[in-house]
Amino acid sequence: SLYNEPYRPHIHFTPESQWMNDPNGMVYYEGEYHLFYQYHPHGKTWGPMHWGHAVSVDMYQWKHLPIAMEPDSLGMIFSGSAVVDWHDTTGFFNGSHGLVALYTSADGDFQQQSIAFSKDKGRTWHKYEGNPVIPNPGIKDFRDPKVFWHEASKKWIMVLAAGQEIMFYRSSDLKTWEYTSKFGENQGAHGGVWECPDLFQLPVANSDKTKWVLEVDVQAGAAAGGSGGQYFIGQFDGKEFVNEAPKENVLWVDYGKDFYAAQSFSDMPDSRRVWLAWMSNWQYANEVPTHPWRSAMSLPREVSLTEGEDGKIKLLQQPASEIKGLINKEFINSTVQLSHVEKILCLQPDAPFSLTFKMKTDDLSRVAFSFYNSGTTNGCNLVIDKEAGEITFDREKMKMSHFHKDFPAKTSAPFDTEKVYLKIEAIVDRGSVEIFINDGEQTLTNLVLPEGESFSISGASNNGELEVDCKGHSFISIWK
Ligand code: FRU
Repeated sequence: SLYNEPYRPHIHFTPESQWMNDPNGMVYYEGEYHLFYQYHPHGKTWGPMHWGHAVSVDMYQWKHLPIAMEPDSLGMIFSGSAVVDWHDTTGFFNGSHGLVALYTSADGDFQQQSIAFSKDKGRTWHKYEGNPVIPNPGIKDFRDPKVFWHEASKKWIMVLAAGQEIMFYRSSDLKTWEYTSKFGENQGAHGGVWECPDLFQLPVANSDKTKWVLEVDVQAGAAAGGSGGQYFIGQFDGKEFVNEAPKENVLWVDYGKDFYAAQSFSDMPDSRRVWLAWMSNWQYANEVPTHPWRSAMSLPREVSLTEGEDGKIKLLQQPASEIKGLINKEFINSTVQLSHVEKILCLQPDAPFSLTFKMKTDDLSRVAFSFYNSGTTNGCNLVIDKEAGEITFDREKMKMSHFHKDFPAKTSAPFDTEKVYLKIEAIVDRGSVEIFINDGEQTLTNLVLPEGESFSISGASNNGELEVDCKGHSFISIWK
């Protein structure tokens, strides 16, 4: 298969070569999912930003396309979104429809919002001659427009990051924008500037409610240190977002170090909401030792809301169900009795796979699973600590982790110790481990840099015999 370099993921999107960061312009249109991305075609570190481009029919198997947009007289092409202008509100499409991209023109720290349109399914783009559509109002960090059609008010809505706040705008034609409100003071985490917001409405399972989710990335001081995502749950009336969760409560999107700038697809063909994120962290992104490319995207994750028995609304993230189409073969489906260190299985390190552990919460005290060279100095561990109510992923001991001081880290997510079962799914690809706890109530996403020939998993429980249901299957590669 293509792309066999060390750490080249098999089921996660990567550019063929050079630097990538945020996902941009994600939209479904005429049978194709589009993924654009922050791209530097002339180097393996962040530089003059272009929009790279790929398309897919299932959100997993991508086809690379030529660069969509290059820097121009207004500056670099920073992050943004894309929509389908079904009713030609822009007048760009002669009464038909097409794609409109909304992005930030960045001349260094001077940032403004611009638009471009495509009449050929995203293959070629024309920048609007009236750019910028939102000139810089004197705010230094003013970027990352995410736009959607708000049916109730019959307007396009733009959510924009401005310093450490979110600004809301609205428009009838995507060209003229009216500022309506801002959000963020004394709300959520403020360890750094806010970036790459997203806003969408979701039904709440187990109830008849609907809520709005506002996702906001914070460049520093996130759950696991460095950059990460937070979200708010509340209401949006077309002008203003009202947070309904306690103000002081920070809700983290992911508890690992490598899940940033998540963006959801616009115009999904069904009622699902699916996002994916850049799988890195600004602390060390420019130095991760991969060649000839740098950075991968997370798996596409379906996002949903559910109401727990305590009346609390939870956000769940699950790999988009199309992942079933990548399943190669089942390699384990059995119950393992854990006590002292026990080898559970040994695999070829090359094939990506999913492994699910399920155990009774009652029987748990402290359990450790080691991945890769188990138990030695070069593996990583997943430790479940019931007393602390935490699941920790530890990549500290991996030799290759030490290329940067912030990479060797232990990251922890809380879990619900009141539930009868604890279920953990780990999706392991070359270069990363994504962990979904209790069907995605919490997630832990981390890059890993293993060395060595075999991938083995062993487990140990310090509470006598522990019964663990293990299910696992491998995946085919998305690169053929
Ligand atoms: C987030 C970000 C965005 C910006 C882009 C530049 O990772 O800093 O705010 O638009 O990257 O590449």
